[in-house]
Amino acid sequence: MANVVNHETQREGRENALNVLLKLVGGDLDRVNEIIVERMHSPVALIPQLAGHIIAAGGKRLRPLLTLASARLCGYQGERHAKLAACVEFIHTATLLHDDVVDESLLRRGQDSANAVWGNKASVLVGDFLFSRSFELMVEDGSLKVLAILSHASNVIAEGEVAQLITANDTATTEEQYLDVIRAKTAQLFAAACQIGAVVADRPSPEEEALERYGMNLGIAFQLVDDFLDYSAKQQDLGKTVGDDFMDGKITLPVILAFRRGTDEDRAFLKRCLEDQDMPEPDKDLARAMELMTKHDTLGDTVKRARHYGDMARNALDTFPDSPAKAALSGIIDFCIERAY
Ligand code: IPE
Ligand code: IPE
Ligand code: MG
Ligand code: MG
Repeated sequence: MANVVNHETQREGRENALNVLLKLVGGDLDRVNEIIVERMHSPVALIPQLAGHIIAAGGKRLRPLLTLASARLCGYQGERHAKLAACVEFIHTATLLHDDVVDESLLRRGQDSANAVWGNKASVLVGDFLFSRSFELMVEDGSLKVLAILSHASNVIAEGEVAQLITANDTATTEEQYLDVIRAKTAQLFAAACQIGAVVADRPSPEEEALERYGMNLGIAFQLVDDFLDYSAKQQDLGKTVGDDFMDGKITLPVILAFRRGTDEDRAFLKRCLEDQDMPEPDKDLARAMELMTKHDTLGDTVKRARHYGDMARNALDTFPDSPAKAALSGIIDFCIERAY
């Protein structure tokens, strides 16, 4: 019983952190969602159909929330942040459409992925539409600095996804290579989402850099936890297929640590599964991998690593005086680490 209560309390704490942020910038987020719906429109019916499918499924809207909260932290009073937050979510959505094609994922945000419904070609092309639409939104905003930050982030994400393709199925991948990949494919957009909050508010560079550092470290923590959840989440909570990373031979920290800490026999087993993709009984192999990861507590250590980056994100907020926005951004660090979805 005590456990149940603890679990509930922990869950509430987590929910609260996201709710606190939503309460703070909820009005702005409504505006962002309006812009998203308006601007995903196209006379080519398949575009709003497919884009609407993934957008209406929700998602946490974490990255646009970060832009809105960062702008608030910097005392921004104008309206530009909403369009830019929509732009950040478009970039994120485009990468999800492309990522699910590359990863052959069939489940996204608790429903069939767009590629599962409409196929790879439509997903890639609508992803391109959302990407280019985000650039139109940036041009409408008119700040070359924002354009530089977000175009660089888009470029680095693409680079990260290609780098990941190269490390896939390679058990020799080091922790450093893995970190480079997650910095690029995930953390760079978190960093950009936060940094542009300071840019629209025209804050001096130490504040801009602090928000960039906050976002970068938060993004690394976020992806570490995503890679932990791929092994440990409840599929219903996560809204994505659990165990996909193992089946695809994706080299994430939980398996890098297991490979390093295991015996020669363990390594041969991981090579067979991840490199050779030779899994005649996939469920049995996944169970054996889970056993190995539990034995060496590599999932626990992945979360520990995430906490370390979470601490660095929190340190970055020291630059700012206390405010409700700062407290909300701090709470989001805990949400990202303790989240179940
Ligand atoms: C999924 O991001 C992609 C990763 C970087 C792991 P989110 O977990 O933020 O996805 P949504 O937007 O909430 O669905
Ligand atoms: C996230 O990596 C990559 C990007 C969205 C760029 P994952 O492949 O782990 O994300 P999920 O688990 O499919 O959401
Ligand atoms: Mg994926
Ligand atoms: Mg994942």
